[in-house]
Amino acid sequence: MPVITEIEDLRRLHQRRVPRMFYDYVDVGAWTGATYRANRADFEAILFRQRVAKNIEARNLACTMMGQPVSMPVALAPVGLLGMQHPDGEIHAARAAQAAGVPFTLSTMSMCSLEDIAEATRAPFWFQLYTLRDEEFLDAILDRARRAGVTVLVLTLDLTIQGQRHKDLKNRMTAPPKMTAANFINIALHPRWALGMLGTKRRSFGNIVGHARGVDSLGDLMDWTSRQFDQRLDWGRVEQIIRKWGGPVILKGINDPEDARRALDTGAQAILVSNHGGRQLDGAPSTIRALPAIRRTVGPDFPLYLDSGIQSGQEALKAIATGADGVFIGRAFTYGLGAMGEKGVEAALAIIRRDMDITMALCGVNDIKDFGPGCLWSDNLGAPAST
Ligand code: GLV
Repeated sequence: MPVITEIEDLRRLHQRRVPRMFYDYVDVGAWTGATYRANRADFEAILFRQRVAKNIEARNLACTMMGQPVSMPVALAPVGLLGMQHPDGEIHAARAAQAAGVPFTLSTMSMCSLEDIAEATRAPFWFQLYTLRDEEFLDAILDRARRAGVTVLVLTLDLTIQGQRHKDLKNRMTAPPKMTAANFINIALHPRWALGMLGTKRRSFGNIVGHARGVDSLGDLMDWTSRQFDQRLDWGRVEQIIRKWGGPVILKGINDPEDARRALDTGAQAILVSNHGGRQLDGAPSTIRALPAIRRTVGPDFPLYLDSGIQSGQEALKAIATGADGVFIGRAFTYGLGAMGEKGVEAALAIIRRDMDITMALCGVNDIKDFGPGCLWSDNLGAPAST
């Protein structure tokens, strides 16, 4: 067993332990993958200020997200099909989040249902919703979310049509998997995963199957996506869904200042700057590049979170110093889940926490609330004010 010190260690284990189509589903960008790569690469151009002699003994990462106390400003992003990375994956991720004191967001496209998570955890959790055509289903799922104790709705705006991901198409990715010869061989090569999956009943979309009219067995994610995801989505509909929910909403998938300006008028409490991990519009800017203009647009106080590309606590801190109030991680914890189940998600969160703690210290800062633009290097530091 390798010593796990960084998310990359978990990624490698995930790749080894989980059938290829599910690993590939996570570790993919749309089309050429340029945005997927830029999401991480663009962090490299951001530099910290190395500060010394600041007494950094009393450090604190705890703060709030959406008014809830968190042990660090990091939430688990909604990731579809977690239950295909590890049996009952959503339950394990939610428990790891609870243990770490950070929010867990359940995806609409999960194997475990809202009710499963409510039963398996004590901490309040968040729920991600796609804007769906079936109004009856939409009303019912919002109601189920309320009854399950969901405190925040994360409404995804950037996936009413799916960006093309070559690997998924080539792997004929479905959940549960279609038994093509290639899939059968690949699953046979992962007997531990296969046995685990045989041991759970949660192998289909638990939020949907048996709840949506006319959907009794649901195999094909792509097919369901193209039939149900509402391509007529506009701002009026966004406002209607926010009103239907009646509680706090984060609008996810905004990566442009004009959309951010419009989002301010919807009644949503927060924006999640996201390009869906580079899985949707390849060629769009990285979120860290889009963030400053979005922050200027919404003003200094509107809650702004960022996802897409965060795989270390250093990247989380760079996002926070650039204007985010917190970050969401997707792949980083999913690699952990595929690698080692609940323990792997705990490991991913521990890695990010340690990175943040040590980096904050090396920047001479004690409290996350003081980690701002002044912690980043800019070439005119020390230059006369007029230049
Ligand atoms: C769904 O959100 C996906 O990215 O596949």
